[in-house]
Amino acid sequence: MITRDFPRAPRKSGGTRPLQATILWLAVLGALLLPGMASAQTVNPLEADPRAAAAGGSLYRAQCATCHGADAAGIQDIQAPDLTSLWSRPGRTDASVFQTIRNGIPGSIMPPHSFTDTETWMLVSYLKSLDAGSNREQYAGDAERGAELYDSYCRRCHRVNSSGGSLGPALDRITASRSKTALQQAIRDPGTSMARGYRPVRVVTGDRRQYRGTIKSEDAFSLQIMDESENLRGFRKSDLISIQYEDRSLMPRFTPSALSDGNLENILTFLAGAADPASH
Ligand code: HEC
Ligand code: HEC
Repeated sequence: MITRDFPRAPRKSGGTRPLQATILWLAVLGALLLPGMASAQTVNPLEADPRAAAAGGSLYRAQCATCHGADAAGIQDIQAPDLTSLWSRPGRTDASVFQTIRNGIPGSIMPPHSFTDTETWMLVSYLKSLDAGSNREQYAGDAERGAELYDSYCRRCHRVNSSGGSLGPALDRITASRSKTALQQAIRDPGTSMARGYRPVRVVTGDRRQYRGTIKSEDAFSLQIMDESENLRGFRKSDLISIQYEDRSLMPRFTPSALSDGNLENILTFLAGAADPASH
């Protein structure tokens, strides 16, 4: 007979030092997040932030690993299920996983949890990051056609497998970290959620030269950008006539007439293959 001590639903006051540090960090991040974030949300508002899965991992190890296992593969003795392929089940959404974590499963030992919305979404991000299988099945286009389209429309700004431009972020692992809906939106309507580290800016120098690019680093006195020709440029702010932060992404908008839904699916299928070593 195997006995285990089951943790009770988490209380914020308990916990180890690293967990307290995480929670402090979560509180800071939470304060920065969009005000509209609520549990009624159906899409994970943190999915664009790669740090969310890491923070969710700390919460997981502190609150869930005793039952679901350090590797989240489940513990059979207590019938705690494998959590590494949640999204491959039909009808499963980010929101339903959110609700399961929050409410627990009545009639089982899976407890309700009193995490904040932000913390709960971080756990969702973490579990999703474990779920490689769902990404493969989700994209049903033609990967070869997708590779050709990527070469003609995307490659000059985005790297895949270390080749391609650097104006935008590398896309190798993008289907593993963001949902399909979020990716479709990022391509149809860039700028709705701007990738971190790619904020667009336009500066005018003392000799009236204009540069447009993305901000790579900035402090009170200086600004480093990558301009549209991929040159890194540094400026002292006191030398600039103007700095204009822009809302419009440097990425062009791909409307359905420029890129059909089918071809968008083909590109995403190609990217999902690049993210998934099992398909090589
Ligand atoms: C006391 C043990 C215990 C703890 C702690 C626990 N779980 Fe569970 N969990 C279970 C059990 C047992 C089930 C299966 C319940 C059932 O379906 O009857 C379950 C089910 C689930 C499910 C549904 C799985 C599915 O296939 O539908 C999710 C998601 C889940 N847990 C996530 C978590 C997360 C995230 C945490 C930490 C915040 C956590 N659990 C903490 C025991 C636990
Ligand atoms: C002129 C350069 C350029 C081209 C061409 C371009 N992009 Fe982008 N892309 C960017 C920049 C800059 C960003 C970062 C700013 C943003 O998120 O809007 C970005 C962001 C993205 C993101 C969001 C990444 C994230 O982490 O949130 C995706 C997905 C994406 N691009 C896919 C594509 C695809 C697919 C194509 C081709 C159909 C393409 N891009 C063509 C410049 C470009």
